[in-house]
Amino acid sequence: MLNGKNVLLAVTGSIAAYKSALIVREFIKKGANVKVIMTDSSCEFITPLTLSTLSKNPVVKDFVKDLDSGVWNNHVDLGLWADFMLIAPSTANTLAKLVGGNADTFLLATYLSARCPVFVAPAMDLDMFKHPSTQNNLEVLKSRGVMVIQPEYGELASGLEGEGRLAEPENIISFIHDYFLDLASLRGKKILITAGPTYEAIDPVRFIGNHSSGKMGFAIAEIAASRGAEVVLVSGPVSLPSPDNVERIDVTSASDMLEQVSKQYTHCDVVIMAAAVADYAVQQPSASKIKKNTSVFSLELEKTKDILHFLGENKNKQLLIGFALETDNEVENAKKKLKAKNLDAIVLNSLNDKGAGFATDTNQITVIKRNNKMISFELKHKLDVAKDILDVAESML
Ligand SMILES: Cc1cc2nc3c(=O)[nH]c(=O)nc-3n(C[C@H](O)[C@H](O)[C@H](O)COP(=O)(O)O)c2cc1C
Repeated sequence: MLNGKNVLLAVTGSIAAYKSALIVREFIKKGANVKVIMTDSSCEFITPLTLSTLSKNPVVKDFVKDLDSGVWNNHVDLGLWADFMLIAPSTANTLAKLVGGNADTFLLATYLSARCPVFVAPAMDLDMFKHPSTQNNLEVLKSRGVMVIQPEYGELASGLEGEGRLAEPENIISFIHDYFLDLASLRGKKILITAGPTYEAIDPVRFIGNHSSGKMGFAIAEIAASRGAEVVLVSGPVSLPSPDNVERIDVTSASDMLEQVSKQYTHCDVVIMAAAVADYAVQQPSASKIKKNTSVFSLELEKTKDILHFLGENKNKQLLIGFALETDNEVENAKKKLKAKNLDAIVLNSLNDKGAGFATDTNQITVIKRNNKMISFELKHKLDVAKDILDVAESML
């Protein structure tokens, strides 16, 4: 949920400001990009150096960066950059100013400019928190769409005990994670994706394979998981790390892939078959290494069971999407495959297009739907191609 998100963390002058270091670290671990804004008073509790080092970005505190040259920090740009803003810890003072619409600190001006979701995590002594002004301010902020991450009960810096402790960093992160999960477009959907090549054994040492790197299928799995889907990725032999929040099943041959795919198929909402599965396998692989005794050597191959065809025949509720990598008569061949295999859509990529197909980080696709409607996309990074494919799938669900 948080991978790749632009996070604007604003830190104010609470004794709990030291916990902002842990919050930054957690966001970075989750793959987010973090920029930190600090108030003057927060710098008395934790240094900008700590937060800039952890966030890998300079901390912003003032409107003007350099008085002599007139270089300034752009609160509007920063507000627009953010996918969400988190004010943690938020003092009673800053809460009141957020409500009042004050803009006398860089933090406040950025808050007023931000169009993204805003979360506040208050931290203060129990009586400050209970005070009608603070409670009223929180209600006003909520009514304006700001999400309040409630402080926790416990021992406070004053020595008193009560509600007011900044929520623990992991609870703050999971609150935000759950917020985005609720918005996720594929939440509650199960998606099965295949990727990579298959290897068909000739003997214990050699195999028949192909050039598929698995990058396209892995990109689709990554994006589907980031949209909240439950993703199962059945992958042939590739050297790619598993995307986050994806159940990965590694297989070798076409028959292994068929076995794993059919186990998962019944409960899936969407199936995207991006793997380059062997059409033929060696009829009788040798149990021992074949010696080079003859000048000519031939192998008997037999057709593998067609996984897409099998899935098309046994479809109940699934949206079934196949891939066609063609070298000639591309559209015509893809349309034939779409129909013959009872697919809902087919993703066509042509080896004739520069930057498309195997091993590259980019791809250029045309999606052909069951009704023969075609949507062509430009050459893009495979992660962006994955978004296009999933957008089409979502529109068909
Ligand atoms: C040691 C110390 C701890 C403080 N802790 C808090 C706190 O946890 N919450 C709070 O609302 N104010 C706290 N304050 C008061 C704020 O620092 C003060 O209201 C300040 O003006 C807040 O400025 P800011 O909101 O611009 O960061 C504390 C002050 C001191 C000296």
